[in-house]
Amino acid sequence: MTADNIESLMHEQRRYEPPATGRDTAHVKSLDAYQAIYKRSIEDPDGYWADRATELLTWSKPWDTVLEYDFDKPEIKWFAGGQLNAAYNCLDRHLTDGRRNKAALIWQGEADGAVRTYTYQMLHDEVCRFANVLKKLGVKKGDRVSLYLPMVPELAIAMLACARIGAPHSIVFAGFSANSLRDRVNDCESKILVCSDAVIRSGKTIPLKPNADQALTECPSVEKCVVVRHAGNEVAMQAGRDLWWHDVMCDHGVQGACEPEPMDAEDVLFILYTSGSTGKPKGVYHTTGGYLTYAAHTSQLVFDLHDDDIHWCTADIGWITGHSYIVYGPLALGATSLMFESVPTYPEPDRFWQICEKFKVNIFYTAPTVIRSLMRSGPAWTQKHDLSSLRILGSVGEPINPEAWMWYHEHVGHGKLPIVDTWWQTETGGLMISPLPYATPLKPGSASLPLPGIDAAIVDNENKEVGPNQGGFLVIKKPWPGMLRGIWNAPERFKQQYFTGFKGAYESGDGARRDEEGYFWIMGRVDDVINVSGHRMGTAEIESALVSHPTVAEAAVVGMPHDIKGQSIYAYVTLKAGYEESDDLLKALKMHVRKEIGPIAAPEVIQFAPGLPKTRSGKIMRRILRKIASNEVDSLGDTSTLADPSVVTELIDGKKKLF
Ligand code: WTA
Repeated sequence: MTADNIESLMHEQRRYEPPATGRDTAHVKSLDAYQAIYKRSIEDPDGYWADRATELLTWSKPWDTVLEYDFDKPEIKWFAGGQLNAAYNCLDRHLTDGRRNKAALIWQGEADGAVRTYTYQMLHDEVCRFANVLKKLGVKKGDRVSLYLPMVPELAIAMLACARIGAPHSIVFAGFSANSLRDRVNDCESKILVCSDAVIRSGKTIPLKPNADQALTECPSVEKCVVVRHAGNEVAMQAGRDLWWHDVMCDHGVQGACEPEPMDAEDVLFILYTSGSTGKPKGVYHTTGGYLTYAAHTSQLVFDLHDDDIHWCTADIGWITGHSYIVYGPLALGATSLMFESVPTYPEPDRFWQICEKFKVNIFYTAPTVIRSLMRSGPAWTQKHDLSSLRILGSVGEPINPEAWMWYHEHVGHGKLPIVDTWWQTETGGLMISPLPYATPLKPGSASLPLPGIDAAIVDNENKEVGPNQGGFLVIKKPWPGMLRGIWNAPERFKQQYFTGFKGAYESGDGARRDEEGYFWIMGRVDDVINVSGHRMGTAEIESALVSHPTVAEAAVVGMPHDIKGQSIYAYVTLKAGYEESDDLLKALKMHVRKEIGPIAAPEVIQFAPGLPKTRSGKIMRRILRKIASNEVDSLGDTSTLADPSVVTELIDGKKKLF
């Protein structure tokens, strides 16, 4: 966040009461009701979560203990001894509870005519078939399967098929490069990769299979690659390894039922790689019982899902938001989830509103970066469409600045709809701090109050809770069912990253303050993670991509404020001796990062730096680099500890030449 944004959040005084209409049927009807639930959840967590897990899910075997944990070890177990299957909970049980012929998933492709609807029965049948395919290909309980797909229904089908047979899925966002895919596949040693011929985006066909091919030359664990035909472009298939989805799904042997595998509550449901402040991406993993309970619980309370609602979360399933709020949460509740393949601005900046009108969407959940980019096109685009079906608006991914909040409220919500600004993370599995739509008075820019079961606090460097309106580190003091259980292959990193900084608590990596009424105001990351258009990027990853270029000696990456993206990537690069700075080299370096990580990681600005500001012990002082990138050179702070303070003047001069 920029200093200006923080300033405007500090002075934000507006307040909106929850709407009166909708309260009668809401899952939580008032602030008092929320407070009572919250109180119970903190005083009697075992009782509360046992009730929730029973109300929301079907278990094939009851648990022995609700919670066992030790944050020092760390070890967290929810519902130990219990058994269930996530696909059974998202599909089978809805075949007999009156929802068999209800739309589970409605898919809207980029072309307006490209719509596919799956009832619960249809989705169940497809999932069983693909589960049978996986089994036939030799996938057993516990084997990993990587999914590298655009937003097509096959992605949801493949996820649930994995869940059905107990094979953890690892979804790799289709915007990642071949090298990123390779690293993620190798880290969890997947047996199967599912990909597609291409991604369709803004009228273009972007081939995807070549990335998979390139990655697979260095992925020894992968035995088969299943390819979904989506765009219909020419694809090279490797005999013996590659199979078409539509062929394998037609095999005789895969038709018919596939019994759901009974899974222990603590068996891994999926792995999802996310960026950290150091090193390569971490394979955050979630387990079956706790994650699914939490995804269903939060979907029900925060989106107030009811049976005739159409729920639309615009995230990509490649991120945690899509996992929890397109697939697992809504389907566990038997809701109708809308899945959209394309972008908000194609063919025109009213695509989202046109879809809301077309399907009469009730709950709409998107990111501040989307709102800011649509704000720029003007409110006329929202006025072209009947948005009267909308009931709840949501926001996720980064702090929503009050200007964007107000625009969303006025032009999409017509001044009436609640906006749930949901703070959470890949690691938390589900929403953590958020208003409840019919209970919580709203303050633009605040994620408001912790959800039931969430013991959130703000502490200082010494792990002491700070007073009202004092900034500090956001930590969670008690486990919740949806929390991560580990980092794949890296138990030490799991401990170091989340449980060592503040003893006895989960460290979120975010800074925040809490006002007199207990409302949380999230200030953004306090570590070296930056948030570009709601996507988490580790500066260390981008630096190592830059340094892998033959001309680069050293690189330092920081976030820089950006009107639409929130933050953008600013890289300082020192060349090896003998290489010349040039515009061509700048372009080549940007291309190199795209190739190494993916387009989302390409720096907005690269500045050649003859030297980087370092302490005498050789540590790069990123604070100074951030200030220079953000044009805040008047407040550089103490530079006396630098080994060579003249570097700073050189960098400031160098930046002036760039702009
Ligand atoms: C940021 C996305 C402020 C935060 C679900 C967090 C937010 C990181 C909000 C996690 C919000 C997410 N207000 N900041 N409503 N939602 N963040 O893992 O910095 O991709 O730590 O999970 O996004 O990003 P991740």
